[in-house]
Amino acid sequence: MKREELRTPCFVVQEGKIRENLEILKEIEDETGCHILLAQKAFSMYSLYPLIGEYLDGATASGLYEARLGYEEMGKENHIFSPAYREEEMDEILKYCDHIVFNSPAQIRKYGGKVRAAGRSMGLRVNPECSTQEGHAIYDPCAPFSRLGTTLERLRAEMTEEEIRSLDGIHFHTLCEQNSDDLAVTLKAVEEKFGPYLHEMKWVNFGGGHHITRPDYDRELLKQCIRHMQETYGVEVYLEPGEAVALNAGILLTEVLEIVDNGMKIGILDTSAACHMPDVLEMPYRPPLKGAGDPAECCSGEKIEGAAENMGNTVESGKDAGVCCPEKPYVYRLAGPTCLAGDVIGDYSFAEPLKCGDRLEFQDMAIYTMVKTNTFNGMKLPDIVLEREDGTCEIMRSFGYEDFKMRL
Ligand SMILES: Cc1ncc(COP(=O)(O)O)c(C=O)c1O
Repeated sequence: MKREELRTPCFVVQEGKIRENLEILKEIEDETGCHILLAQKAFSMYSLYPLIGEYLDGATASGLYEARLGYEEMGKENHIFSPAYREEEMDEILKYCDHIVFNSPAQIRKYGGKVRAAGRSMGLRVNPECSTQEGHAIYDPCAPFSRLGTTLERLRAEMTEEEIRSLDGIHFHTLCEQNSDDLAVTLKAVEEKFGPYLHEMKWVNFGGGHHITRPDYDRELLKQCIRHMQETYGVEVYLEPGEAVALNAGILLTEVLEIVDNGMKIGILDTSAACHMPDVLEMPYRPPLKGAGDPAECCSGEKIEGAAENMGNTVESGKDAGVCCPEKPYVYRLAGPTCLAGDVIGDYSFAEPLKCGDRLEFQDMAIYTMVKTNTFNGMKLPDIVLEREDGTCEIMRSFGYEDFKMRL
């Protein structure tokens, strides 16, 4: 099947692009001897786990179901971290996972004995209290009052020498879509606070948030950071990126259902930000759209003579509302078909007027999308399609009414 023949909405994941990302990650593993795991929370399209497993050392999970998926579908190293585990799930988790990371000394006291008895490796997530990201407090585990990770103060106050000695590893996760300069800053904080304990550990896990497969990512600095930890503390180094595995490796294909005009032209699509790409609203961000331009090039809000005729729309730009010159002449707000007034994907400009039935391609839609979809308003879930390296498309999962009904 060709891409043009697919019914919309659908996620199309490109095998070739996933492989390109995996080759970059594998090169880091080969050159440094570190271990890279897939963080399934970002990308759980398990039909690709055999391919991912050819390159990476395994997977990491956020809970029982991801742990089981990684165990069943990848079958390599299987790690897990959760802020708090359910007692009735622990035995099953220990069946699937070889590395169990706890968030607090209390969780270690509760479950540490079981982990030891099962012969599994045990780690503690620490909080180095070192924020390196601005603007997205919900993505910052080092923000004030964060529940994620044990601070040095709590570790000293709550853990006995024996409990600390029972640990095999230290885990930290503080980054989000960041470069290796921020990792270097974070590592410094981790070493300053937890360095003395690291000498006693077998492994350290740098968490996720490393945008390793982005063109401007400084991989040499990442390798230096890894080697520094290996040499200073004699530890195995793990990284568990999610986004980097499937970055720019998928699109969301959608169709224009209707166009309305309420002071500006609005294209209503058969996909929804709220249901199919919730990060667009949560983060928030405007996803790249193939072939489309920005709504306005000049962001001063200045009125530009003649621009209004050209674009036929008034554009909000920054704080000021005004008429600006868009990159392309026809400006539209693209929005979903749900009842949510804020189900808006963003404003874009086009070379030609949009019409019903036009197909659009949102870019970079493999990560944090399929794993987050929902059927609010009874919305249909997008099909999940794999585009092979020869360009043929295979529908891996297709959804219907039953998928909506069965959860209610
Ligand atoms: C503990 C942990 N590990 C790994 C990841 C993956 O991060 P990313 O997909 O940004 O690389 C996350 C993301 O939230 C996380 O919380």
